[in-house]
Amino acid sequence: MAQLWGGRFTKETDQLVYRFNASIAFDQKFLKQDIEGSMAHVGMLGRQGILTQEEAGSLIRELKRILAEVEAGTLEISDQYEDIHSFVEAVLIERLGDTGKKLHTGRSRNDQVALDMRMYIRMEVAQTDDLLKELLETVLTIMKEHTDTIMPGFTHLQKAQPVTLAHHMGAYFEMFKRDRQRMRDIYERMNYCPLGSGALAGTTYPLDREDTARALGFYGPSLNSMDGVSDRDYVIEFLSALSTIMMHLSRFSEEIIIWNTNEYQFVEIDDSYSTGSSIMPQKKNPDIAELVRGKTGRVYGALLSMLTTMKGIPLAYNKDMQEDKELTFDAVDTAKGCLALFNGMLATVRFHKERMRKSAALGFTNATDAADYLVNHGVPFRDAHGLIGRLVLYCIEKNCAIDDLTLEELKAVSPVFEEDLFEAVSMEACVNKRLTVGAPGKEAMERVIAIEEKYLEEAVFPGTDWEERLFL
Ligand code: ARG
Repeated sequence: MAQLWGGRFTKETDQLVYRFNASIAFDQKFLKQDIEGSMAHVGMLGRQGILTQEEAGSLIRELKRILAEVEAGTLEISDQYEDIHSFVEAVLIERLGDTGKKLHTGRSRNDQVALDMRMYIRMEVAQTDDLLKELLETVLTIMKEHTDTIMPGFTHLQKAQPVTLAHHMGAYFEMFKRDRQRMRDIYERMNYCPLGSGALAGTTYPLDREDTARALGFYGPSLNSMDGVSDRDYVIEFLSALSTIMMHLSRFSEEIIIWNTNEYQFVEIDDSYSTGSSIMPQKKNPDIAELVRGKTGRVYGALLSMLTTMKGIPLAYNKDMQEDKELTFDAVDTAKGCLALFNGMLATVRFHKERMRKSAALGFTNATDAADYLVNHGVPFRDAHGLIGRLVLYCIEKNCAIDDLTLEELKAVSPVFEEDLFEAVSMEACVNKRLTVGAPGKEAMERVIAIEEKYLEEAVFPGTDWEERLFL
């Protein structure tokens, strides 16, 4: 074991304590961010005259080299170091001697780790936004193709009124669009730089916090050093937004699973996204959708853990906060994986339009429209509701749809019915008469599709140019 803080200690750390305390197994995930943060810090120390330009220059060169070597596999991150920060510093000292020892001037691991985590999450927020955008593109493609594809809309999982597949997909478009907006909100709030907060009370060195904030692509420095080192709100916000994404994906998965059953057969999941059974040769299972649904719990768990971890922490930094990493990394990797796989599954799913249409036609989904027909001919709505209820009962006995009845049978229930009833309650009419904004009628749907298309073109994630700006 190699640690940064041996001076005050007279005994070696117990081996178990060391392992319990160490975070290198997981914080090596943000080596790149750690190095970028150090480069910005050291560059600023040079410009401020706290280090010489030469010292700063050689530290920056060596930091870049360390990253390149680790990425190339020629330098191994050894678990004899407590964390990734100690590892990088130790390599610098080994290679640069006293200059290496100057890296940590005017900095604490508390503001260092606060910075690394913030930069890592910032990148993940942007990547999640990208994946959401790709999913929205798939959803919109389906919407455009299926403004005429009639299917039953459900309430209580009972057939309710006919809608179209475009309309059903449009609901998910709205959900994932809001998820993207949440990514943007989080980004806007979190994009302030904690570097320079020191351990908790800033530092006595004349640091230029504006300089490091700018170099690292932040809007500016955070305004309170105690908050700077101990704020993990943005992690909680991100986990909350990821949980909402997973909830949406899980609902969508549940529908795909139901639609893919023998009973529904609304869709067929592509072979490449299905799995078989070890014993039942006929099976083609929707495992991907089930796994997405199943993994939702993991992401919710991370949110709850993080909320609980933070709730009792007095200001400022406490070691509890090290717990933010593993569960957040797992939640992000899980959610991103689910977004990508769900997108692939959705893009290749086959929709059985005929089955959907038949299901809508045979489910009395036009009963409301039949009642509306009577209302339009002067029957009070409540009476119309009762009459159509009786008609439905009669149809159930005969095992047919309302528009399968003869005009005579209809007139036996209400003399108001005329030949034009058949047209009025056709599936197409039921859908296409619904033309208010947000309704499934083809014209209304096409207007919405145009709005969504424009949104996809115009909504770009705010300045991720930090990706190119670093390493200048
Ligand atoms: N591994 C620590 C973490 O993840 C780094 C910060 C250490 N700071 C300290 N005062 N022990 O939070």
